[in-house]
Amino acid sequence: MAKKDVKANLLNHSEAKVRLLGEYLKRYLNIICNDGYTKRIKIYDLFCGEGLYENGGEGSPLVALRQVKDIHFVNVAKSVSIPKIDCHFNDIDANKVEKVKQAVKDKTLYYPEFGEIEYATNDYQVEYDNLLTILPKLKTQTQKAFIFIDPYEYKHIKTNQIKNLMAKGNAEVLLWLPTQFMYRFSNNGTPEALKDFIEELELFKSWKPSNNVWDFVHQLKDGFQAFLGDKLFVDTFTIQKDVSTVFCLFFFTSHIKGFEKMLEAKWEIDTEQGKGWDYAGNQPSLFHDQKTNPLEEKLREYLKYGKRHNGEVYEFTLRQGFLPKHTNEILYNWQNNDRIEVITASGEKARKKSFYVAYNYFRDDNKKVSFKLK
Ligand SMILES: C[S@@+](CC[C@H](N)C(=O)[O-])C[C@H]1O[C@@H](n2cnc3c(N)ncnc32)[C@H](O)[C@@H]1O
Repeated sequence: MAKKDVKANLLNHSEAKVRLLGEYLKRYLNIICNDGYTKRIKIYDLFCGEGLYENGGEGSPLVALRQVKDIHFVNVAKSVSIPKIDCHFNDIDANKVEKVKQAVKDKTLYYPEFGEIEYATNDYQVEYDNLLTILPKLKTQTQKAFIFIDPYEYKHIKTNQIKNLMAKGNAEVLLWLPTQFMYRFSNNGTPEALKDFIEELELFKSWKPSNNVWDFVHQLKDGFQAFLGDKLFVDTFTIQKDVSTVFCLFFFTSHIKGFEKMLEAKWEIDTEQGKGWDYAGNQPSLFHDQKTNPLEEKLREYLKYGKRHNGEVYEFTLRQGFLPKHTNEILYNWQNNDRIEVITASGEKARKKSFYVAYNYFRDDNKKVSFKLK
């Protein structure tokens, strides 16, 4: 496809990309607006592009604003408290930013009562420096930031910058990386930018040439996780455009509940694309191949060395990129087949199907039951 088309039209893979942004923002805004203490949310789109493409496709600023508008009017209808939501759209190309402004106006996507809307035409580096002064000034309890980073080239991004943006615990980051290009480069002699990237992640010594782009993505994810430490959560979402092109979203948050919401958004899209969850337990049927389930394998390995509590199993599930409902299905199947013991804090056998693998129990009662393989 001609380069112009790639940039002037929102293509399928980009559509999936911004849909994921929309699905996530919907959940994120819904939780934050109703958490009872957040008064202001700031959305930053640092590489916002032109908003409306020639083929009518909507880019990240319009997708984000639609979510802001939706939640605002839902909150008005419910007469609940309505936090202000400020939006900041930046792109180095001033023409694109003008187009975004025009599209926002034409589609009446913004009303002043939502919060403040700002447009900027800065280089990413300037935006990053600005954020480093803005973020520490946000009031931790009542103000939150969400940062969307969607560059054409990974050379713009430094791992350390993500770490710094997350440092105050009040920001979440969605980062798109064109992993296919990185992967191709990684096998054809590593260019400086990728070398810097891997070096920053302190992966250079352990970096293995990957056999395919998925291995490459897993290595990067593990590298990010190790670099950022256990207090932060990292996950990925990959979109394959064609056999040789894969884009990957890296999602960073310091809050486990936000992480769960991101995973929900990801699974919703995965399921629609047919790649989603398919667990037949150990009931062979005509319709399911007898195949191993990756989470089941991981969970078995995790429980093999002694008992684990419901809070631990909840966190483990999310860190593997799965949802509590997936783990519940597996536990239920094991329980039915007498392969697991579920014991309450007072040492009794728990009621059937009572696993308490959920955020509320993780927060308030994380040792309510324990699991032990038989
Ligand atoms: C992948 S596109 C963004 C697409 C957009 N998020 C969307 O959903 O439609 C990357 C954008 O980065 C902008 N850009 C390139 N270099 C930049 C820089 N140094 N700082 C800020 N923006 C830059 C380009 O003009 C381009 O619009």
